[in-house]
Amino acid sequence: MAKAKTVYFCQSCGYEAAKWLGKCPSCQEWNSFVEEIRQKAGASAVPSWKSEPLAGAKGSKAAILHEIDFKEEDRIKTQDQELNRVLGGGIVRGSLVLVGGEPGIGKSTLMLQVALQMPGAKVLYVSGEESEQQIKMRAERLQQSAQTNCYILTETDVQHIFTQVETVKPDLLIIDSIQTLYSQRVESAPGSVSQVRESAAMLLRFAKETSTPVFLIGHITKDGSIAGPKVLEHMVDTVLQFEGDRHHSYRILRAVKNRFGSAAELGIYEMQSSGLREVSNPSEIMLSQREESMSGMAIAAMLEGIRPMLIEVQALVSTSAYGTPQRSSTGFDGKRLNMLLAVLEKRFGFRLSAQDVFLNIAGGLRVEDPAIDLAVLVAVISSQQDLPLPTDIAFAAEIGLSGEIRAVNRIEQRIAEAEKLGFQKIFISKYHKKSAIDTAKNIQVRAVAKVEDVFGELFGS
Ligand code: TYD
Ligand code: MG
Repeated sequence: MAKAKTVYFCQSCGYEAAKWLGKCPSCQEWNSFVEEIRQKAGASAVPSWKSEPLAGAKGSKAAILHEIDFKEEDRIKTQDQELNRVLGGGIVRGSLVLVGGEPGIGKSTLMLQVALQMPGAKVLYVSGEESEQQIKMRAERLQQSAQTNCYILTETDVQHIFTQVETVKPDLLIIDSIQTLYSQRVESAPGSVSQVRESAAMLLRFAKETSTPVFLIGHITKDGSIAGPKVLEHMVDTVLQFEGDRHHSYRILRAVKNRFGSAAELGIYEMQSSGLREVSNPSEIMLSQREESMSGMAIAAMLEGIRPMLIEVQALVSTSAYGTPQRSSTGFDGKRLNMLLAVLEKRFGFRLSAQDVFLNIAGGLRVEDPAIDLAVLVAVISSQQDLPLPTDIAFAAEIGLSGEIRAVNRIEQRIAEAEKLGFQKIFISKYHKKSAIDTAKNIQVRAVAKVEDVFGELFGS
């Protein structure tokens, strides 16, 4: 057999090089080169689209759309309602799901719990990170009923895993984690880009050909993306992110990408000493964290990329000790803050020119979404007037230079997130389509046109 030839490709522009380069000479991108294997030396140099099919290869045939069989019940419902919801109503047969999260957040716990809660289904849990005893110990902690059909395999070689898969014939395959797998066909170390991609590609083929759903656990790099090639996220059907503060017990499971459902869904869990408990009433988190209302705080319904989240804006307005008032903001554009303060002065007559204004976005986030504007204004006024807001109100609107309240994108998602998190009321712009607003059931949506309307309703002035 001819020696496999490896070449390196830039992931962002496709530039080809014989050796690894730190910076792409073509598009100037750093760290974008990945190794690719070139086999099949015998293939003709210029492939013809009319070429004969390769020996032994089975091509698929085109089919007429309305003749394709489809059953809505092709989903496996787990006992975990939060997971079902995030997946869009259960596990789709033959789907490949990637579950990402920081170390220690509870990915293994979540997946083992799912594995143990599948009555009537055979589950194969493959771990490359822990021993059988460690997994058994964890299962004991989870206190699930002993009668389950869950097989444990500690193995990292993909070929061996597939041998076991053929013997066990599971209804669900869980891989913990994709970064520990290695295939003998690729020379690089486990966790490297080509290993991860090769293993994922094999699992993808397995999932599609046998209609067996596969869950992959993936590690996360420092900047929050899933370690390994970006193509991994393109290959899989669904990307779930498991997140939360390790020092707090609440965990959030989000769909970042979902071919079979909405990517706006989230599931909430609480990590207890006996595993993850589903939190079906999320307001319990918000209310327990903010027991009494304080002035200078407002909640904005934001979108981070495509992910909706509610974040707290904190403002402090105090009399300036020096001639020039200070303006300081953390996590929010300082120029935008000045603009909003100018709107308050000019349009609404609030005297802020002799006062220091400090603004902080809780949780160390940096926010660029203009939908935070209204929450910023409200927090500043709340602090200046020393009037606290009720804790169950959220805001999502941009402010124009004349103080008008402007519409923001994906308002349905923001409303849905606020509703899910237990808020009672959300202020949005009047200029949204009515259909968008009508989707909310358990939250009062206040569509307003002017900032005065908001202030009047909140502070009675
Ligand atoms: P784990 O699932 O090992 O995290 P990951 O696979 O994402 O790295 O979770 C480990 C943490 O969860 C660990 O700090 C202990 C905690 N934990 C509990 O609090 N209760 C439990 O029942 C279990 C199994 C773990
Ligand atoms: Mg783990």
